[in-house]
Amino acid sequence: MALSGLFLISFLALHLAINLASVFSVELYNEWSHFMGYNKIVQLLLQPILVAGVVVHFVMGFVLEIQNRKARGAQGYAVKGGGTNSSWLSRNMILSGAVVLAFIGLHMYDFWLHEMTYKYVEQLPVDTERYHEFTVAKFSTIARTAIYSLSFVLLAMHLYHGFASSMQTIGLDNKYGKAIQAFAKVFAIAVPAGFIFIALYHHFNPLQ
Ligand code: HEM
Repeated sequence: MALSGLFLISFLALHLAINLASVFSVELYNEWSHFMGYNKIVQLLLQPILVAGVVVHFVMGFVLEIQNRKARGAQGYAVKGGGTNSSWLSRNMILSGAVVLAFIGLHMYDFWLHEMTYKYVEQLPVDTERYHEFTVAKFSTIARTAIYSLSFVLLAMHLYHGFASSMQTIGLDNKYGKAIQAFAKVFAIAVPAGFIFIALYHHFNPLQ
């Protein structure tokens, strides 16, 4: 769970860096998007590894949740005092995770499906300048911008517990433990905030 989570976190950092370019430079965003979309190593090696990472994380999440529930059997706690030694976020990872997964479904429909159709179904000619326009247009409606932004808030909640917890799982609670935990918590808020910024920026700065 921890390793697949950390792998997905590294993807998120790269994904944010590429997407931030859509705010600062049309040329750079188009160039990077084209590279990611047509590079053989990215497409044939990294993309399948990413899909496998998502699947492993999702399946392991369910397995863990079921194990946790079974651990008490039918006999629940007499006093539900979860809040005394665990946070609300940590006890509801399955909930925030499910929202993030639902978001990924919508997101794949929005971007990935369009890309596959363009390249492999309709086999349209290579156009290195189509990416920016397509991305900005996705945020033209308030509904999509709101659904995306809300999903990023849930992503922050998921990461806030998940990132710090995965560090502990792999044994990084050494003498740098406090600093590592602090970094994980800042990351958990800053990265989704960056995605929200991009969504809002494109919504309020539509194409002319
Ligand atoms: C404003 C925010 C975001 C924008 C504008 C955005 C945009 C994009 C674009 C343009 C692609 C490329 C599709 C393709 O060519 O195949 C993509 C792929 C993807 N995005 Fe996002 N994204 C955002 C946030 C996120 C977040 C927060 C997550 C995860 C929770 C995410 C997960 C993915 C995944 C898993 C892929 C598939 C990568 C692949 O094609 O292999 N995205 N996104």
